[in-house]
Amino acid sequence: MNAMDLVHMLDFPQKGDDRGHLVIVEGMDDIPFEIKRIFYIYGSDNNVVRGQHANRKSEFILINVAGTSKVRVKDGKGNEVVYSLNRPHTGIYLPRMIWKDMYDFSEDSVLLCLASTHYDASEYIRNYDEFVKIINSENQIEG
Ligand code: TYD
Repeated sequence: MNAMDLVHMLDFPQKGDDRGHLVIVEGMDDIPFEIKRIFYIYGSDNNVVRGQHANRKSEFILINVAGTSKVRVKDGKGNEVVYSLNRPHTGIYLPRMIWKDMYDFSEDSVLLCLASTHYDASEYIRNYDEFVKIINSENQIEG
């Protein structure tokens, strides 16, 4: 299966009441993995492009819990799709081996990232040409 087909938006359960909003994200329930790591990105100017990598092992969920941003995903085979993150109760699921660029951050953007792994720099592919090569060699193995 092409990694691009696995990318999808998720709408998380909400239990808001007259005291305010509450959004729930449970590992292996609302998202398809156990959460091993949380990090969040804020204070990025709207001319900044973050990400610019693919991961051999990690799956991610990205949620703009405040503000807005965009995520461009590429499969290394010429396909790319842009998703807008603009609601605190929606997220995007990113599987392994998908290239991602996060950009167009609003001034108030807080981008929450949930990961299926602990941080391991060696599983990050930060060179796009190398990513394309790996994707093509995997294709050959799959036939
Ligand atoms: P980077 O991967 O460039 O951030 P992003 O993909 O969000 O643009 O990470 C920036 C720095 O932070 C880099 O030196 C690696 C480090 N880092 C960690 O130590 N642990 C982590 O979980 C993450 C995401 C990054």
